[in-house]
Amino acid sequence: MELSKEFIQNLRQEYKAARLNEEDVLAHPLSQFEKWFKEAIEAQLFEPNVMTLATADLNAKPHARIVLLKGFDVEGFTFFTNYLSHKGQQILNNPQACLVFFWADLERQVRIEGNIIKIDSIESDSYFNTRPRLSQLGAHASPQSNVIVSRDVLEDNLKHLSAQYDNLEIPRPIHWGGYKLIPNLIEFWQGRESRLHDRIVYEQVDGKWEISRLAP
Ligand SMILES: Cc1cc2nc3c(=O)[nH]c(=O)nc-3n(C[C@H](O)[C@H](O)[C@H](O)COP(=O)(O)O)c2cc1C
Repeated sequence: MELSKEFIQNLRQEYKAARLNEEDVLAHPLSQFEKWFKEAIEAQLFEPNVMTLATADLNAKPHARIVLLKGFDVEGFTFFTNYLSHKGQQILNNPQACLVFFWADLERQVRIEGNIIKIDSIESDSYFNTRPRLSQLGAHASPQSNVIVSRDVLEDNLKHLSAQYDNLEIPRPIHWGGYKLIPNLIEFWQGRESRLHDRIVYEQVDGKWEISRLAP
């Protein structure tokens, strides 16, 4: 290894950009999320809608990957993917999942836990229709999560599909669409000095959001 253990151990930052107090947060976690998400956009972060999605398979083995947030409302957080992918199969067997945002420049993390549902096919159609043509073709061309013998498989699929849909509207593949994570817990984490970070968590109890502070 070229990088010494000491070098890696000495990679550290002090967090002092902001603070988060119980009395400062909004009553509904989705409103608080909207506030922080707007601030992430205003700060011109690179892809502020990038989030880690963690799911678990039938053996309770966890799996995580990045997906893009494509919408949120009082109900939950929407993303789009291939329903036949590994994550799609895991969600089918176990709808419990987590999302994590890390906005490094703002020294913030948001952690979301809940259950995933498939969104309405009309909503998936309407988002699919806004995608660039090449992304639409890509959704048809890629058997997401399957082993393929080489990249040529994708390039060949794309070539055939481009010819097939030349001058035609590209329909949404039935195996591609949106999911929505309906949260039951959302934690807002703000980095602070001396690793004494602020952690404000909203948890749904009897249909109401309860707010508490966790130790860092
Ligand atoms: C920045 C970034 C954004 C991504 N956005 C998505 C997305 O919105 N939907 C998606 O299916 N995959 C997205 N991916 C790819 C996934 O991370 C992953 O490789 C893919 O969905 C297959 O995951 P699975 O095999 O666990 O199902 C993104 C990857 C990166 C790095």
